[in-house]
Amino acid sequence: MSWELDRRPVSGADEDLRTALQAAKLPIDDLDEDGRSFFRFTDRNATVGYGGLEDYGSCALLRSLVVLPQQRGHGYGEAITRQLLTQAARGGANTVYLLTDSATSFFERFGFAKVDRATAPAAILQTRQAASLCPASAALLAKIVQR
Ligand SMILES: CC(C)(COP(=O)(O)OP(=O)(O)OC[C@H]1O[C@@H](n2cnc3c(N)ncnc32)[C@H](O)[C@@H]1OP(=O)(O)O)[C@@H](O)C(=O)NCCC(=O)NCCS
Repeated sequence: MSWELDRRPVSGADEDLRTALQAAKLPIDDLDEDGRSFFRFTDRNATVGYGGLEDYGSCALLRSLVVLPQQRGHGYGEAITRQLLTQAARGGANTVYLLTDSATSFFERFGFAKVDRATAPAAILQTRQAASLCPASAALLAKIVQR
């Protein structure tokens, strides 16, 4: 998909963001903490989903990717992921990490691959997602991004 969705920053306190993440069983406990950016993605003025990044300099954590249930299956998840990867690279990251327990094969489509937690940078392992909010069974995936 080559089109770009409209993207607007939202705060971690945004009620619609929190509702969408909670409905998808994604963590909301650390949304208000520093160093996180969240975005609402819209197509022709309709909200289709959300996504976020945590910036750790040369690496970033992609998180809080959710497409609203009624909007799934139309390529929005792919579009949001690509836009977040571009943004992470522009922000200076050369590796993007994420944790997932249900969408590993979705992210493998973009070149993400499972990595051993022991090989990940401390900044990623110390994120609230990695350290406590995501189950220990969640896979840690990584992708090298180009600037
Ligand atoms: C995962 C999610 C973001 C996908 O959004 P979407 O808009 O439905 O995805 P797309 O329409 O862009 O799908 C692109 C492709 O990925 C596939 N895909 C979609 N969800 C998938 C999943 N959970 N696992 C594996 N493949 C998936 C689609 O079948 C499609 O394949 P195709 O091109 O061969 O038809 C969405 O299902 C969601 O919000 N899930 C709940 C939250 C979640 O799991 N987030 C990820 C962890 S942070």
